[in-house]
Amino acid sequence: MIYLDNSASTYTKPKEVIKAVNESLLHYTANPGRSGHKASIKTALKIEETREKLAHHFNAESGQNVIFTLNCTQALNLAILGSAKKNGHVICTENEHNSVLRPLEFLKNLGIIDYDIAYQNSPIGISLNDILKYKKDNTYMIICNHISNVNGSIADIKSIGEYCSQNNIIFLVDGAQSCGHIKIDIKENNIDYLSVAGHKGFYAPQSIGALIIGDKYRPEPIMFGGTGTNSLELFQPNIFPERLESGTISTPLILGLEAGVDFVERNFDDIVNKLDDLTTFFNYELNKMGVTTYTQPENSFGVIAFNIKDLHSNEVANILNEKYDICVRGGYHCAPIKHKALGTIEQGAVRVSLSYFNTFTEMQKLLFAVKHIFKNC
Ligand code: ALA
Repeated sequence: MIYLDNSASTYTKPKEVIKAVNESLLHYTANPGRSGHKASIKTALKIEETREKLAHHFNAESGQNVIFTLNCTQALNLAILGSAKKNGHVICTENEHNSVLRPLEFLKNLGIIDYDIAYQNSPIGISLNDILKYKKDNTYMIICNHISNVNGSIADIKSIGEYCSQNNIIFLVDGAQSCGHIKIDIKENNIDYLSVAGHKGFYAPQSIGALIIGDKYRPEPIMFGGTGTNSLELFQPNIFPERLESGTISTPLILGLEAGVDFVERNFDDIVNKLDDLTTFFNYELNKMGVTTYTQPENSFGVIAFNIKDLHSNEVANILNEKYDICVRGGYHCAPIKHKALGTIEQGAVRVSLSYFNTFTEMQKLLFAVKHIFKNC
């Protein structure tokens, strides 16, 4: 089987990640935040080490700026719902996933906020100018997908972050597809909140994510409960990161994430070069063949979208799966506005998404299959 659906979840996990999860189940099974005995403290110290590692990776101030979540979706919901401002206005972009669009729509339908969607002028990605058209006096948050999960287009987060910082607007970046593939420094880019998916670019198990927070803003909790602190009080304690992490956190997944971040840091240059080489090669060959592609050569981050003539993308994905044993994703990738912008509402798009573990030979086999489908339809 050839697996090319790594934007949905990376398939091959580094052996270090598997080992870390196993170790955790053997040696770090006590609850890290609830008791004062040595087993609990041992686990808590290990978790702190991971927080520090993530803080360092993203240049956040300290481990307290790392909030563990179930996934990237929960991190985005926490940032959006936890920052909602009555009668406020939010700007997001055409590249947003439903994990941004749906909480915004929910807040809008409750009459709490209003929001606008900025469309990109250049096919390469969203710029500050694209966003400025929608700025209002009451804009309190700008949300920007960093790398599109549909076609790999990239946002100019540096300029947008600078603008947000100068205008006291909260800057939320969805790093679902960029974390692990691009180095992100939250201070240099003036990012207030960055959402992280563990199981994609960090090769961690599923169901571990994080919200990395800067020092200027703090979202309100959207989930309440035990934090292991101030247990006699009925109000949610104002101690971070616990205030935003009610309930027992997942030590095995967090330690898997730590090993994944280590893996990415050790292999970072190779990862970037590999994704760049394979994306560029595949995209170039698709264009040569006359297939409709939606990914610009500049967007060589391992996500390539295309369609074959007027075949529905799900049909192509099914043929690749059944006839050629190749896993890709068809359809809409939970990003409806992006499909509207690309003109693919009818057809969806076939998405090939890569990881460090994919090879040139796999891309050649995929090209052979695409060529075959192209010729025969
Ligand atoms: N958001 C993930 C994807 O793009 C699941 O497939």
